[in-house]
Amino acid sequence: MSKTARAHTNIALIKYWGKKDAKLRLPLMSSLSMTLDAFYSDTKISDSEQMSFKLNGQAVSGPAADRVFTYLRAMQDRFGVKGNLAVESVNQVPTAAGLASSSSAFAAMAAAFADHYQLGVDRRELSRMARMGSGSASRSVFGGFSVWQKGDSDQTSYAYPLDEEPDMDLRLLAVEINDQEKKISSTKGMEMSKSSPFYQVWLDRNDSEIKEMEEAIKQADFSKLGSLAELNASEMHALTFTAVPGFTYFEPNTIKAIKLVQDLRQQGLECYYTIDAGPNVKVLCQGKNSKDIVNCFESSFDRVKIIEAGFGPGVTLLD
Ligand code: DP6
Repeated sequence: MSKTARAHTNIALIKYWGKKDAKLRLPLMSSLSMTLDAFYSDTKISDSEQMSFKLNGQAVSGPAADRVFTYLRAMQDRFGVKGNLAVESVNQVPTAAGLASSSSAFAAMAAAFADHYQLGVDRRELSRMARMGSGSASRSVFGGFSVWQKGDSDQTSYAYPLDEEPDMDLRLLAVEINDQEKKISSTKGMEMSKSSPFYQVWLDRNDSEIKEMEEAIKQADFSKLGSLAELNASEMHALTFTAVPGFTYFEPNTIKAIKLVQDLRQQGLECYYTIDAGPNVKVLCQGKNSKDIVNCFESSFDRVKIIEAGFGPGVTLLD
């Protein structure tokens, strides 16, 4: 009997935004993330008459199911195994979180697949497998902080743990700006961004940004970590504005939230923003300030939904 695999989402502090090889999902840069306790996906795989995919109890068809089936067939080819599979996933990633669920979804899927066929793979191989489903999923195999080293082949591109149980006061507030599905997928957005005249600068800065972030983590230096994460996110979004044609994931309220973070910081309430491929803003702060920051957001925005998260664990099999 297969077990259910659980993986948590992660938020990139140094972002993956560009592929060298779309099929193998080899990135052009290394990335570094924090795995989050509040959001996760549970996935179970069993033998079946035909391929099927259920998400949150509902049968899924169309492109979302095709992505899963194509992934599973690729994994079967990789390991020389066969058969039709029924995949049942439950995403504990509320839309309100504005976090992509693909990182937890494909990390859980890879672990469920490995368990189903009793592949006995180590976590490095699991990270490679997860990467093939969605790049950011490679990092969700590990808890705490992890780094996805870009590598230059399927063998060398995988994530590894930096510190799975960090002794650092770091919280993430996921602020919902908009719960609509993003119009430009990350896969497409990162491809379009390559036309920016600043793209080479983005690539050239990657090594030093990773190094500096690793130092901030080692020193448990929140101010350094937050300012580096904020700068890296701004660089990524600058690529969207300066792409040809230009585009943006921001909504008017995204800018309002950015300005609020800047104002709060000036007032002595230290916090920093990071933003992925969507309009929602994630605020990095320390536990001692999180309540005050939530209050400020609630009084500046109508009916804003905010979810607080801390460090989450790596992928596990549930009994
Ligand atoms: C902005 O991992 O969703 O969240 O590999 O095309 O599935 P694909 O992309 P995905 O991209 C994540 C982009 C990001 C930054 C990050 O998580 O590193």
